[in-house]
Amino acid sequence: MNTKGFIFDLDGVIVDTAKYHFLAWKKLANSIDVDFTETQNEQLKGVSRVKSLEKILSWGNKTISEDEFMALMAKKNDDYLSYIDKMGESEILPDVPKILNHLNENNQGVALGSASKNARKILQKVNLISNFQAIVDGNDVSKAKPDPEVFLIGAKALNQKPENCIVFEDSVAGVQAANNADMISIGIGDKTVLSEADYVFKDFTEISIEFIEELIKK
Ligand code: G6P
Ligand code: MG
Repeated sequence: MNTKGFIFDLDGVIVDTAKYHFLAWKKLANSIDVDFTETQNEQLKGVSRVKSLEKILSWGNKTISEDEFMALMAKKNDDYLSYIDKMGESEILPDVPKILNHLNENNQGVALGSASKNARKILQKVNLISNFQAIVDGNDVSKAKPDPEVFLIGAKALNQKPENCIVFEDSVAGVQAANNADMISIGIGDKTVLSEADYVFKDFTEISIEFIEELIKK
């Protein structure tokens, strides 16, 4: 059987942590008198912690010192982690385990490719960490999505050529990163938002085992 590399983004693909990022960013933004809406939160999907704070500050026309910047980053993460600490298996998005199990049972390469520095902790919380042969997260990369770095490191860790890899992503920047890496991009979410992806599904309940088998045979 062919072996392919399947690389999963974390936030918004495996678990819905966007709601916790939203709560933590909103609290932080409001604490410095900056408004923060769900629409703005959408624009932070796939965006690193540093870049997210930079965007929030620019939306609020705020300039702060480097020390204050670091303090706000730490504050946001502490708050975010208070939600993560309460996470469990029930927060895994529907049918994700089904697909992960199928890939693992059929000896496919499975890696994580996330911008989050909390990725390992979250995978442990939801008890999925043993499903991944390689984990590439925000601690391993220097260039943010849409740069392909995170996925190229993932492919290397799986011993796969980029063209034999398939990426699952919920963010525009992530889909672009997969395309820039010469991988097959599968958008998870809204077709109109993720129009650059090779395929788009609302969520994993729409992805059949037959479709996965087709990808393996390609
Ligand atoms: C993912 C999320 C972003 C988040 C980033 C960094 O890409 O979609 O919303 O800002 O990871 O996450 P972290 O857990 O390191 O703050
Ligand atoms: Mg994501």
